Amino acid sequence: MNSFMAWIEQRLPFMDAMNKHALQYPAPKNFNFWYVFGILASVVLVNQIVTGIWLTMNYEPSGDGAFASVEYIMRDVDYGWLLRYMHSTGASAFFIVVYLHMFRGVIYGSYQKPRELLWIFGMLIYLVLMAEAFMGYLLPWGNMSYWGAQVIISLFGAIPVIGEELTIWIKGDYVISGATLNRFFALHVVALPLVLVVLVFLHILALHEVGSNNPDGTNIKKPKGSVKPEDLSKFEFHEQYTKKYDIVDAIPFHPYYTVKDLVAVVIFLILFSWVMFFAPEGGGYFLEAPNFTPANGLKTPEHIAPVWYFGPFYTVLRVIPEKLIGMVAMFAAIGMLFALPWFDRGIVRSFRYRSKIHLFNLTQFAICFIALGVLGTMPASDLANLAGRIATFGYFGFFVALWIYSKDEKTKPVPERVTG
Ligand code: HEM
Repeated sequence: MNSFMAWIEQRLPFMDAMNKHALQYPAPKNFNFWYVFGILASVVLVNQIVTGIWLTMNYEPSGDGAFASVEYIMRDVDYGWLLRYMHSTGASAFFIVVYLHMFRGVIYGSYQKPRELLWIFGMLIYLVLMAEAFMGYLLPWGNMSYWGAQVIISLFGAIPVIGEELTIWIKGDYVISGATLNRFFALHVVALPLVLVVLVFLHILALHEVGSNNPDGTNIKKPKGSVKPEDLSKFEFHEQYTKKYDIVDAIPFHPYYTVKDLVAVVIFLILFSWVMFFAPEGGGYFLEAPNFTPANGLKTPEHIAPVWYFGPFYTVLRVIPEKLIGMVAMFAAIGMLFALPWFDRGIVRSFRYRSKIHLFNLTQFAICFIALGVLGTMPASDLANLAGRIATFGYFGFFVALWIYSKDEKTKPVPERVTG
């Protein structure tokens, strides 16, 4: 067996890659709760792909058959209900873990140099994830699927000159029809998942090139105390590593974090199962009531609301009266996140050692983002519009203020070693 493995290894260095990227990956000693969401996002990604493949076996991507085929999956296919709820609950779970994962990056400054590209890949993942969820939402061909897609696609109609043509091109018809469903199906099950998997691969590769940040925002690979840089050549990960080579603030990923992440995965699966078995509709947030009736181009749902995870950007769009400006603001809101590494001109990463003004700015940003999300699921009213405008101001204000104060920010001293 050993010589067989050696034969493989000489031709395809699999164990070498496993050691570099998983087993012996030098991870900071002080990872906390916030660092489990990357792994959880990977678990949900696998769940979505596997349950999606099985759903496709009985789903019919046509205007006439889609709604009925989902009913068929729910009622007649063995464990079809389980597959569908795993997939629909999985979509919301994906965004919950990804939002927490991103917020971790924001509070610990993980987007700062040298991790800008890692952040950009993350943002591309987020963008593709939103497109993937949007297209997936049309597939059950319920009335909210239909009208949700109608609202979003018609936005492109506001673009001068090409707008009208563009909406027809996206729909493949003059109205949302079976043709639209077909192309969304193709993109949802083949094209976007492929892109997503490639992006996640690049995301991890970019992470492992520069190494993980940590809750203190320090450079864990910098030799500590009296250690000379040449001692670093002794630096290797094996079982006695922590005692023998305690010169950096890293520990091998396995077994330390494989075990810790396993605990997080088990807790996550318990919570996920609870929602799936006892509250699969998520109180109307994960599966919306109008989607239990078939798509009807003549009957608009009383209150058209996107699924909760689009809420923040939908509110930015809705509180601006002019459609084109609203659309530009919505895309700008996402664009600002892409450019975050360049809005932050500071050198201290973690909020632990940054100024009071930064703490305040971070807090108001989180509150505004949540408020925008909540407002996005509520019916429009004067009060909701006003609140939405204030929250939109706070959202964009976060980036502008960060750019201004981060240049000469009064920060606290960052410890040389991680603080645990
Ligand atoms: C499918 C979605 C995603 C998957 C599977 C994923 C996976 C991972 C994994 C496994 C890690 C290492 C473990 C950890 O630090 O939690 C990581 C780190 C990171 N991810 Fe993601 N990620 C996803 C989406 C995103 C998004 C949307 C962003 C932000 C725009 C992002 C930004 C980051 C950053 C900045 C790090 C490094 C954090 C640090 O070292 O402090 N990721 N990701």
